[in-house]
Amino acid sequence: MEHLLSMLTMSDQEIIDVLDLADKIKAEVKQGVFKPYLKNKTIGLIFQKASTRTRVSFEVGAVQLGAYPLHLDASTMQIGRGEPIQDTARVLSRYLDGIMIRTYAQKDVEDLAKYGSIPIINGLTDFAHPCQVLADLQTIRGHKGKLAGLKMVFIGDGNNMCNSLMVGALKTGMSFACACPEGYLPDPACLEFAKAYGDKLQLVTDPMEAAKDADVILTDVWASMGEEGEAEARRKVFEGVYQVNDALMQQAHSDCMVLHCLPAHRGEEITESVFEAHADEIFDEAENRLHAQKAVMVKVMGE
Ligand code: CP
Ligand code: NVA
Repeated sequence: MEHLLSMLTMSDQEIIDVLDLADKIKAEVKQGVFKPYLKNKTIGLIFQKASTRTRVSFEVGAVQLGAYPLHLDASTMQIGRGEPIQDTARVLSRYLDGIMIRTYAQKDVEDLAKYGSIPIINGLTDFAHPCQVLADLQTIRGHKGKLAGLKMVFIGDGNNMCNSLMVGALKTGMSFACACPEGYLPDPACLEFAKAYGDKLQLVTDPMEAAKDADVILTDVWASMGEEGEAEARRKVFEGVYQVNDALMQQAHSDCMVLHCLPAHRGEEITESVFEAHADEIFDEAENRLHAQKAVMVKVMGE
């Protein structure tokens, strides 16, 4: 694997290979075994948006692999003052063995890969959040023992999480239903991709309809990072309808999982009672960020 730019750029087999390696590395860690898969490598972690999980799991993960992580706050880098991505990519390629970047435009991630000569990992853009979705798939497979044949449901904004979950679910043999309000649909590129999967994709506006017979339900905030100015307008659209609550869970299979990438807004996209009833799954999911991303780093920087 050369880069991780989005779930669209991963082959079906690459996804399974990352999940298998993530499970192997997780089992090793649980036995206290930390193999130096990336001894003496250095990874730059560029952040143009806030982060708790992504920053900490990448830093800890890199150290556990024998690599050195460099946290780079974009506001104190020259890209924060307008230095072009093309030049940043070429400079950083002379120092580092890989870059993880969290930013706004997907094009910036793709340009880093295009103009640089080292592996690039997408740590979240407005379009995609592939690292999170790999951890989500690892969590579902860990709890259910399989992915193919399950029904994944997403309730809420057709955002980066919805886009990446849709592609990840379909590529691993799951069916995917999402309930998004009019005007907040997933990205057209992901919908175009999903066309080949026929009725394995269900796109509706009614959460109750989407949740029917679900094996796993996911949701995310109504306003993502960068959309703070739209928060009130979005609240009016989503409030009272686009919420994972006890009534919605009645539509799903009785052993349905609930996941949330976090941070969660209790009382908005998910109720306190559903969140707490599924806290074990949600915090397994958060833990798996560490294992899944270690697998991604090994795949792109070590092989
Ligand atoms: N889920 C996730 O990416 O969390 P952070 O924003 O804290 O990194
Ligand atoms: N959709 C959210 C995900 C945060 C992990 C955002 O982009 O802010």
